[in-house]
Amino acid sequence: MHFADRLQNVETSAIRELFKLLGKPGIISFAGGFPDPALFDAVGIAQSSAAVLSNNPGPVLQYGATEGYQPLREGLSSFMAGKGSTVAAEGLIVTTGSQQALDLIGKTMISPGDKVIVEAPTFLATIQCFRLYGAHIIGAPIDADGVDVDKLEALMLEHKPKLVYLIPTFGNPSGATLCLARRKRILEIAARTQTLVVEDDPYGELYFDTAPPPSLLALSDSVPGSRAWLAHCGSFSKILSPGLRVGWLIAPPELLAKATMCKQFSDAHTSNLTQAICAHYLTLNRLQDSLAVVRQTYAERARVMAECLTHELGDAIEFNQPQGGMFFWARLTGANGKPANAADFAKRAIEQGVAFVPGVSFYAHDADKSSLRLSFATADVSKIRDGIARLGQALSFHD
Ligand SMILES: Cc1ncc(COP(=O)(O)O)c(C=O)c1O
Repeated sequence: MHFADRLQNVETSAIRELFKLLGKPGIISFAGGFPDPALFDAVGIAQSSAAVLSNNPGPVLQYGATEGYQPLREGLSSFMAGKGSTVAAEGLIVTTGSQQALDLIGKTMISPGDKVIVEAPTFLATIQCFRLYGAHIIGAPIDADGVDVDKLEALMLEHKPKLVYLIPTFGNPSGATLCLARRKRILEIAARTQTLVVEDDPYGELYFDTAPPPSLLALSDSVPGSRAWLAHCGSFSKILSPGLRVGWLIAPPELLAKATMCKQFSDAHTSNLTQAICAHYLTLNRLQDSLAVVRQTYAERARVMAECLTHELGDAIEFNQPQGGMFFWARLTGANGKPANAADFAKRAIEQGVAFVPGVSFYAHDADKSSLRLSFATADVSKIRDGIARLGQALSFHD
């Protein structure tokens, strides 16, 4: 068969390949980006499902509007207001996960050869998705405070990108959070250079002790002209359940209209049933209680993982302590002949019964081969202790 030329730009994800090995019995996985299913508020979701199906079920089982189920759009408008962002129900569309919001941005904005700047490293599926539309992806370096804005600005001036894609809060895979000063500067640069900035924010609610700085969206009201150049993707996946496949896109009206048109050709609309469940769930006032448990659980797991990494791997590894989200981003130091290549180390780790993702997958170019991502969200504390001890054993099998 002769497949479309656009597929030539994209390879199967190395992570998917790795996942094939995870079926091995007894393996402890820090590889996935999945929330812990034990923390899903199944009781609240069941309550909402029963309510929407028993009370006038016709509309939620029927076809619906491409823009989204109106009570959910209104619920999301209030939810976003609670996070400091003013968004009318008409200023957002509901998407099938935030992944679809990213795809719609790619579809509406990227022509073959267009340049797109992302953080290096960034979410692999975004790299793949934007490449499918022919984007030439350029990575901007990050540190513990998120993307280096001086370098980002220089890259923007040099390449005049079609858009800049950022995960400013508890990034995947970096775990890094962009500091307030950098957030403001990025909005100023977006307004001044008239460049679309896409803020992907699935993890912002998963903070441990203190809330992160306001989102770019929340800050955009105080930076003149920036709102017109900002798109924001949100999702219930990490705060409620990814299986519901409900996310949302907030964007300037013209872009939102084009994205809605593209969504019509893609899936007509997101499942009305799961949208109605989410809308009802928001009225139950259970989300904050459920999130409090998630935050506390992930905070404890992150603390234990940091402790174990230091204890078991010592100077073999360097990492920043995340303040929220689901990931540790680490670097093998290669100190005293210890491993320096994360892909090789991942193979040894799997032999010892533990998995993580080598960092190379998260770069569009010039990958740091010593980097790796460890998720602390899915394994409980005892598995984390056991799994990191196995990583320590994998070190000693290094020749
Ligand atoms: C940064 C980022 N964006 C978007 C997504 C997509 O999430 P969903 O489509 O489930 O909302 C993920 C999922 O892991 C992610 O990490």
